[in-house]
Amino acid sequence: MTSLAPRTPQLVTKLPSVGTTIFTVMSALAAEKGAVNLGQGFPDFDCDPQLIHGVHEAMREGLNQYPPMPGVPLLRQAIADKLQALYGRSYDPASEITVTAGATQAIITAILAVVHPGDEVIVLEPCYDSYVPNIEMAGGVVVRVPLTPGTFRPDLDRIAAALTPRTRALLINSPHNPSATVWRADEMQRLQDLLAPTEVLLISDEVYEHMVFDGQPHQSAARYPGLAARAFIVSSFGKTYHVTGWKVGYVAAPAALSAEFRKVHQFNVFTVNTPVQHGLARYMAQPEAYTGLPAFYQRKRDLFRAGLARTRFKLLPSEGSYFQCVDIRSVSDLDEATFCTWLTSEIGVAAIPLSAFYGNGFDQRVVRFCFAKQDQTLERALERLARL
Ligand SMILES: Cc1ncc(COP(=O)(O)O)c(C=O)c1O
Repeated sequence: MTSLAPRTPQLVTKLPSVGTTIFTVMSALAAEKGAVNLGQGFPDFDCDPQLIHGVHEAMREGLNQYPPMPGVPLLRQAIADKLQALYGRSYDPASEITVTAGATQAIITAILAVVHPGDEVIVLEPCYDSYVPNIEMAGGVVVRVPLTPGTFRPDLDRIAAALTPRTRALLINSPHNPSATVWRADEMQRLQDLLAPTEVLLISDEVYEHMVFDGQPHQSAARYPGLAARAFIVSSFGKTYHVTGWKVGYVAAPAALSAEFRKVHQFNVFTVNTPVQHGLARYMAQPEAYTGLPAFYQRKRDLFRAGLARTRFKLLPSEGSYFQCVDIRSVSDLDEATFCTWLTSEIGVAAIPLSAFYGNGFDQRVVRFCFAKQDQTLERALERLARL
């Protein structure tokens, strides 16, 4: 018998630099202050009722047990058909497509599958906040290469200079969160040439693939044979169908890469929600839902930009995604994070500082708004921003 009091053992954190994210902080502040939340990237409108109907139908049909580990075959087939139709590349749904619990799980699973301790992984900053902790969890070494300051275009010379014999993977993201830039064909071509003589894998985060504006095509890595042969291509149904809370996405990768991916996948999630997969498969029979997305979001972008043009903010281009960045220098002397707190509390509109997407908190006086909102939400935000 022991007389010691119950005690929780002490931990040494595996991720010392990870705390509460700025997205959570800003959303909480926005709720407390009654601000219009253009901070966190999710729609404030609902999905197509037909999509819900398909999921409901699948549930009522009794499709409620574990699906096959890599995903419901009908959904994998629908994804392969889409990749073929849009990007002209054939993926075998049996061995090259895996359905995941959102893009976030797809990315960490790809990293855990291929990165060994000490391997270098290049990220292009600013970048989505899960990449760096994911690489650290795999024991990898994060190599940060900045996108060109000011324009946020990929700097292929700097990427080339960062490659070493220890480089295992490069993570890219287009359309880009947070800058809303979209990789161009010549940039993808240069990347293909650069990686050709190397053993470097590509993790291509394409969650905003259906949100590219002004008639430009999305330059998926799937379009480039030399990139596709080394790429995990990641997408998210949450973004495409306005259901971010469903957390379903997928990875398309050559069979040899998919086989390693699935080894990790089967022991960290095993399978993904069955009726939702069936609902998505049925809904994907109507490609208009995603082929119409560029026009849907371009209209919102234009509405938002027209309103912002009447403020003193300097607008950066928004080529794709559902984000709009602005330069705050003509409006305020504050740093990005202090400005966002002030804007949320005093003006009543929440935004995200770009410094949150850099490891060293680099502050270039630019903040990000999300325009995946109802028109009336955007108009309410614009009325408030007009006071600036
Ligand atoms: C660039 C990028 N990648 C991945 C994700 C995560 O996608 P999911 O919700 O499908 O996990 C997001 C969500 O904001 C994102 O912006």
